[in-house]
Amino acid sequence: MSLHGRDVVSIRDLSRDEITGLLDSARKMVPLAEGRRASPLLDGKIVAMAFFEPSTRTRLSFESAVQRLGGSCLTIADAGATSLRKGESLYDTIRMLSSYADAIVLRHPNEGAARLAARASDRPVINAGDGAGQHPTQTLLDLATIRERFGTLAGLKVVLLGDLKYGRTVHSLAFALAEFGSELILSSPEALRLPEEHRDELRRQGAKVRDQPDLAKAVREADVLYVTRIQKERFADESEYREVAGSYRIDGRTLADAKPQLIVMHPLPRAGEIAPEVDATRHAAYFRQAFLAVPVRMALLNAILGRPGRGG
Ligand code: CP
Repeated sequence: MSLHGRDVVSIRDLSRDEITGLLDSARKMVPLAEGRRASPLLDGKIVAMAFFEPSTRTRLSFESAVQRLGGSCLTIADAGATSLRKGESLYDTIRMLSSYADAIVLRHPNEGAARLAARASDRPVINAGDGAGQHPTQTLLDLATIRERFGTLAGLKVVLLGDLKYGRTVHSLAFALAEFGSELILSSPEALRLPEEHRDELRRQGAKVRDQPDLAKAVREADVLYVTRIQKERFADESEYREVAGSYRIDGRTLADAKPQLIVMHPLPRAGEIAPEVDATRHAAYFRQAFLAVPVRMALLNAILGRPGRGG
């Protein structure tokens, strides 16, 4: 089935074959993302960036992807500058935006906001992160990073470290990695364990998944160490945040016994979980991961909005 005109609210909206096709297409988009070649695949298309929560990478890489493919953007980067301040509902805001743009990329602090937006819009909606829910395009670029380094998404041991309770990136990624046959090793402070609903779903999928709270042991067996930030903004009670803040940190010593091929990933922003000294090691993959956001989002936008049959 074609992705043309479809919403992407959850990574579950994409089949394995569709994900593989997007990753193949993204690889071809790299020279365009680097500005070495031009291709007007989105010529005449307008994409609305509706960001009601802070973002650096997601918004700017989507904008870069659109503009490098010859399209243009309408951007809301500050909810306070919109009529939401006057009491307009998200539903009405999205419904109206869908008559100004060909697709809507939405980030919102509330889980479920992207699903609501997809109902409000008769144009495709792409979820760019909804609260502690999902971040499917982050998952696509995470998978692209892993596949670029290992040539496969199967049979790897992937440690998911940190805030597994509120981290939408791991909620999306765990599902996708399980689909592709990698083993998940969960390492988090007790208070930030992966919620039962996600564990149940992984079990139903037949995923290989286990807990390893001992970080040193987890790092020794990992092919991929996926580090996340503890998301202060998701805690209702700041004292709960303070109890877990700073409870893990990756530095040269942590990685001393790692496999040579281990890659350290992070969706970024980091807030002290990875020491800057790791940046210069062969393990650091997080800046490449951030770059791959552009070709991956190009591939997705082209699949949803481009003229059928035209690739990178
Ligand atoms: N990875 C990610 O979503 O980063 P931003 O919050 O900066 O968009």
